[in-house]
Amino acid sequence: MKIQSLSLLLSTLTAFANATIFGFNVVSLTGQQNTKLGVKYNNNEVAVLNPTVYPLYSGGVNANKIDKYKYVIVDDTGKVIEEENIERTYSEENSKINEVFNRTTKSVTIPPLPKALKSLYPMGSKKFTPFPNNEIFNIYANCNEVYEDIKNQPFKDGVRNDAISNCTISIITPTETFQSTGVIRPIGFGSRLYKKLSWIIKLDKKFMGRKAIKVRAMATDPTLMREKFNTDLYAAVGVPVQEGTYARVIINQDVWGLYYAMDSLSKNWFSAYLHGGDKAKVGTDYKLISTHPTGPYADLKYQGDDVAAYTSDVYQVDEISTQDTEAIQKDPQGKYRLVQFTKLFDEWNGKYQNDNSEAAVDALKQFLDVETTLRIMAVETLTLAEDNFWLVMSNVALYYNLEKNNYVFIPFDFDETLKGIQGDYFKENYLDDCLTWATDIPNFDHYFTNSLMRHPLIVERFKIILAKTVRDTFNHDSASSHIDGLVNLIHEDVEWNFGLIDKLQSSYTEGQVNHFTLKNFEDNVNNSPVPYDKEINVNDAPYGLKEYITLRGDKCGTFTKDVVIPASDLVVDDEPNSTISSYKVTLFLILSQFILFLFF
Ligand SMILES: *[C@@H]1O[C@H](CO)[C@@H](O)[C@H](O)[C@H]1NC(C)=O
Ligand SMILES: *[C@@H]1O[C@H](CO)[C@@H](O)[C@H](O)[C@H]1NC(C)=O
Ligand SMILES: *[C@@H]1O[C@H](CO)[C@@H](O)[C@H](O)[C@H]1NC(C)=O
Repeated sequence: MKIQSLSLLLSTLTAFANATIFGFNVVSLTGQQNTKLGVKYNNNEVAVLNPTVYPLYSGGVNANKIDKYKYVIVDDTGKVIEEENIERTYSEENSKINEVFNRTTKSVTIPPLPKALKSLYPMGSKKFTPFPNNEIFNIYANCNEVYEDIKNQPFKDGVRNDAISNCTISIITPTETFQSTGVIRPIGFGSRLYKKLSWIIKLDKKFMGRKAIKVRAMATDPTLMREKFNTDLYAAVGVPVQEGTYARVIINQDVWGLYYAMDSLSKNWFSAYLHGGDKAKVGTDYKLISTHPTGPYADLKYQGDDVAAYTSDVYQVDEISTQDTEAIQKDPQGKYRLVQFTKLFDEWNGKYQNDNSEAAVDALKQFLDVETTLRIMAVETLTLAEDNFWLVMSNVALYYNLEKNNYVFIPFDFDETLKGIQGDYFKENYLDDCLTWATDIPNFDHYFTNSLMRHPLIVERFKIILAKTVRDTFNHDSASSHIDGLVNLIHEDVEWNFGLIDKLQSSYTEGQVNHFTLKNFEDNVNNSPVPYDKEINVNDAPYGLKEYITLRGDKCGTFTKDVVIPASDLVVDDEPNSTISSYKVTLFLILSQFILFLFF
């Protein structure tokens, strides 16, 4: 059987009145461009597919009938060298989808986490919506030799090797094929202690509205979903958060495996998530970096007006606003708004620290989004975030909102959450403690969060947020169907992913490695731990994810059991376009009236 290009076949279709063209599109996961993919059908006939945008192979097969088929890997002579385990049934619908070798083509529904609180922000725009939740992307980067250097030496002489590699990047989703030039570089400090590295990809063209995508390795997590779950939890309580979905990542010939592909803090993200459109005036953001337990900490203390006192190892200016002319004039390096924040907070604290009245909170709300701050603290309480805002003032950005002239915190990096591990800083009874769990760290006075929590009205609001989140979202019943949906999405990729690290061509021998198994995954998404086994793993997970959520949710539910939720928090507008639901309700009412009319 000869394979022809679809367009050629279509143009000559009239000549073959009886034959039909059967279309196939399939993504290769071999990382080997000297092999191709083919399709095996009917009586073991094999058609070799055409490489299109690597790693996608496509083609049309001219036959009378094709019912069952499977994909095969063929060598450069056309000989079949491997066959997938799946037997597929041809359908018109699937012929339009980019299928993936050895992965079932299925449509997955992931029940969303129930929303607990309405967001104060748009959380996306028309052109910049969250990635589809129920798809796994396939990302292939063809990079220059700088990539090999980074992969083999993510640290050079003890410091991060942040070299940038030029690449051509392809992203194949079930329904889209995208290609652009761009660059990649490794991200994180702690995460690059692992051999499976995390990357940021910067694109010259926009993919689904973005020019930057982070792919996070999830190397410490047997469930491969704690970061995803934590992100979805933030979205469910309306905190602006960089969202994502899963992706299989291949760079050059290296098959890296399953990643969490997510947004990065970029101008495009800020304008969409905080301002709802690309015409917005975007402000400047600062990443807070603390070195614990020795310090220095990003404590947000006012150090005077000299920007030099706010060093970049602690306060990293991230995206500088070009529209904030006043700030640029004051400090071209972009620190002005940060200094102003610490000054405003210092003044507020000086004036109101012994004032328990509403006026104190109102004064704070003049320049800080207090509500979002408390939601972050409530989520961290539930997830027991070990490397984030409340505990260590890290992995959080402070954003100056130029349109509202106020400040908001943006949380990120959730690879040390939802584990329930005691770690170095938690007290004996940390699992029972839903208020003071984050307060004991060596060399750090928690100036900022303690100044907030000194106010009874602020603590009261914190408890309401915590109560509502536990009751609506962070409990076994609400979380389980979401988790099960994620399991359904990634299950076929789990064993493949864990097995890849030993096949990776890398001379980074100090890179840490976990050898989790499919059973570890299945146990740990549910109710069983992955015990520490120093022979094969560097990480453990003392609680299953559902088990942890149940345990912590119950504890914080008990802690807040007497909290009464105010009426203003009770209605959560789930539909972005509420006219649809009210339209449906109206239609239902009219129809039911009509039916009643018919019967009586
Ligand atoms: C296909 O996937 C299964 C697991 O789902 C795995 O055992 C098998 O080795 C894979 N086969 C190929 C050819 O990749
Ligand atoms: C990488 O791309 C940049 C910008 O296009 C270019 O200036 C640089 O020379 C490239 N480096 C290599 C090694 O190709
Ligand atoms: C909301 O839905 C209505 C009816 O489907 C549609 O006409 C309108 O454009 C939608 N509005 C937005 C903001 O998407």
